[in-house]
Amino acid sequence: MKIKKSKKIASHGAVIVICDAGSLPEAPGLLSEGRALLEKKSREEYSTLSYQQLDRHYLFAFFPSKEDSPKSLEKARLAGLKVLQLAKDNALDEISVCRFHDTPKLSLAVIEGIVLGSYRFEKYKSKKGSPEPTKITLIDPQWNESVLGEFQNLLGAVFLSRDLVNEPQNTLTASKLSKEIVKAGKDAGFKTEVLNKKKIESLKMGGLLAVNQGSVEEPTFNILEWKPAKAVNKAPLILVGKGVVYDTGGLSLKPTPASMDMMKCDMAGAAMMIGAISAIAANKLPVHVIVLIPATDNRPGLNAYAPGDIITMFDGTTVEVRNTDAEGRLILADALAYAKKFKPSLVIESSTLTGAAVRALGTIAIAGMGTADEKVMRDLHESGRQTWERIIEFPLWDEYGEEMKSEIADLNNLGGPYAGQITAGKFLQHFTDYPYIHLDIAGPAFLPSKNGYQCAGGTGIGVRLVYDFVKRHYKV
Ligand code: BES
Ligand code: ZN
Ligand code: ZN
Repeated sequence: MKIKKSKKIASHGAVIVICDAGSLPEAPGLLSEGRALLEKKSREEYSTLSYQQLDRHYLFAFFPSKEDSPKSLEKARLAGLKVLQLAKDNALDEISVCRFHDTPKLSLAVIEGIVLGSYRFEKYKSKKGSPEPTKITLIDPQWNESVLGEFQNLLGAVFLSRDLVNEPQNTLTASKLSKEIVKAGKDAGFKTEVLNKKKIESLKMGGLLAVNQGSVEEPTFNILEWKPAKAVNKAPLILVGKGVVYDTGGLSLKPTPASMDMMKCDMAGAAMMIGAISAIAANKLPVHVIVLIPATDNRPGLNAYAPGDIITMFDGTTVEVRNTDAEGRLILADALAYAKKFKPSLVIESSTLTGAAVRALGTIAIAGMGTADEKVMRDLHESGRQTWERIIEFPLWDEYGEEMKSEIADLNNLGGPYAGQITAGKFLQHFTDYPYIHLDIAGPAFLPSKNGYQCAGGTGIGVRLVYDFVKRHYKV
């Protein structure tokens, strides 16, 4: 979708007018009949009102005065979705966004709702759905073209992340994922190094190799880097993403078809970090960022690793495998230990790691936990609220680590029946020696059916969150 700025609205198309509920809105081009209607109707906060005047379809969206709370921004995204629907219902190609409210961010949030709501994954459909509007015109003196360009790059990165998650395992193997990363790097401007199986073997990444054993596809370990000349951080920010392109559970096979059929989403953590670095590089943020992605599928092939195996990880830690379905933590452990060599100032890792996170929070929130300082946590929570990709924090108390010990190895990979999202976090923490955040996105990464501006399938969760966090935390 093309977004451009203008001073006036077109004579035809859909027009969303962002209004202050406290005063009678001005509405560009509205004739007396429309004005009279506006005067008559109640202007309840967060309500909308649609009105057609010749070839122009208005949607008035009312927001509380002087309000820029995260809730208002989210309501603005949903109003964006409404005007998108209005445009589609009336086969209109263009949507104008005008603001008569003192919170400039509402305009961008409306556009966000329109663009994110227009996403479709139709690559494999012979018959495409009805076309989406293609043009958004922003009538708002606050925002200049460069902000719109930045915004478009960010939303493009969310689409990239959604596309990667929606791509099934028969087309997106670990090697293909690496190819997609290299391509994304060329598009956005970051560098990629792909380590192949031989190299992974020579590095003795025992977690990644064990998980890959049952597969006919080779694993990859991907190192993405955005290193701008004038970076504000001396030590890099490292982002780690789980890249299990398909999770059958391995020999501890997933018990029901329902638990397996969406498991192409098990690389959503990787997709999130690929999207994040794409947006950061495309917008040339002056922050040094490295992304690490261990990638493989998890299958019960002839040579598959088995419950009872003891494996030696990249950093020498030994792990008793009690369940091959707890594979994410094994490949991530190697990546987290590998991250130490960069002496990072902060590591944020994201993964569709546990069913426990889904049971605790559903698809609404991200389960977060970590050892980073309070300022990092505060900024991350604020980014979560601003982007509506909200985080609920769980504790990494020592007591939770007890269940991850083993009688015969340093750790076991299963833990007990309760608080699985935390015990998984404790397992991962073992491999870190730097400020660390773990985000379990198993719930919100993939939706069985459409919800608001998130379509069914990959949601691209976390891309906007990390981008907002980087800007906020590094003040860039
Ligand atoms: N990929 C799954 C977690 C998952 C569940 C992602 C639901 C998305 C939606 C992960 O590898 C897994 O299977 N975890 C197990 C761990 C358990 C065996 C300790 C789980 O949570 O059941
Ligand atoms: Zn699993
Ligand atoms: Zn998994």
